[in-house]
Amino acid sequence: MKYPKVRMRRLRKTGILRDMTAETELRPDDLIMPLFVKPGKGLKDEIPSMPGNFQVSPDVLVKQCASLIESGVKSVILFGIPSTKDAKGSEGYADDGIVQTAIRELRAKVPDLIICTDVCLCEYTDHGHCGVIKDNEVDNDATLELLRKIAISHAKAGAHVIAPSDMMDGRIGAIREALDTEGFSDTSIMAYSAKYASAFYGPFRDAAESPPQFGDRKGYQMDIRNAREAVREVELDLDEGADIVMVKPALAYLDIIKTVRDNCSAPVAAYNVSGEFSMVKAAAAQGWLDEKAVALEILYSIKRAGADLIITYWAKDAAEWLRNSGP
Ligand code: PBG
Repeated sequence: MKYPKVRMRRLRKTGILRDMTAETELRPDDLIMPLFVKPGKGLKDEIPSMPGNFQVSPDVLVKQCASLIESGVKSVILFGIPSTKDAKGSEGYADDGIVQTAIRELRAKVPDLIICTDVCLCEYTDHGHCGVIKDNEVDNDATLELLRKIAISHAKAGAHVIAPSDMMDGRIGAIREALDTEGFSDTSIMAYSAKYASAFYGPFRDAAESPPQFGDRKGYQMDIRNAREAVREVELDLDEGADIVMVKPALAYLDIIKTVRDNCSAPVAAYNVSGEFSMVKAAAAQGWLDEKAVALEILYSIKRAGADLIITYWAKDAAEWLRNSGP
């Protein structure tokens, strides 16, 4: 009989004891804030399904990023909303495209910021799929050519980390080779390696105006029932040259984060996606949940599962909450 010699409550008695024995740390350095940029000036349009998030023009984006740095968040991931869409998503790789323009502005005006960019075609294609359509399907190898172009255009503009989210086979190798050939061997790749075909992306598709116009993404994103497959995806991406691997979504996939963590030594990122954010916001607006407490609990759970980095719409809030009071 261990009790009463062992009393687990001893170390839970005070805040300081709890802090001293806490097993998991969450730091502003670990957080990456997703931001949406569109052409124009002075624009800051709230995304109805993602309260507190906005589609902004590059000048407003600069202000947002400067204020993020002040809060202690050092990195963003950019998504572009182009002025026009076409079958091949050509604004995605235009030198004067919206993301490319935004990167240049940020490099000039917020020099300490680490800029990650989402590399995908869905925001730029008129059909909303993440690649080129051939015979009603997304053509893998034809899409790789366009992804290479997008990646190079982002690197040329000054992006630090290229983050392909398309789930085409062979994309990391194709992009790594293209970057190296063009002289961008120092540009990192954060691969959306285990990206599931998830209904949790719903609010984001409003934000990025990118829902598929026909069918769904199940032919390229992962089946929600699979776990071992995530390890294969991660291994392939690391073999092809990924620097950071990602699991997405995060909250319903904590087991996958843990499995990936246990199976590789590369940094692991997790994407706390739009639906995970918006459902808490909606419940908080009704007075049913305490947003701060629930958000921090979610972020700690993602860390505890093994993520090094978390992409989250709470990045700025969380940095401020942690600075002011902690969990
Ligand atoms: C683009 C992309 C998506 C997200 C990130 N990059 C949407 C999708 O695949 O449909 C989702 C992010 C979120 O829900 O917060 N392919």
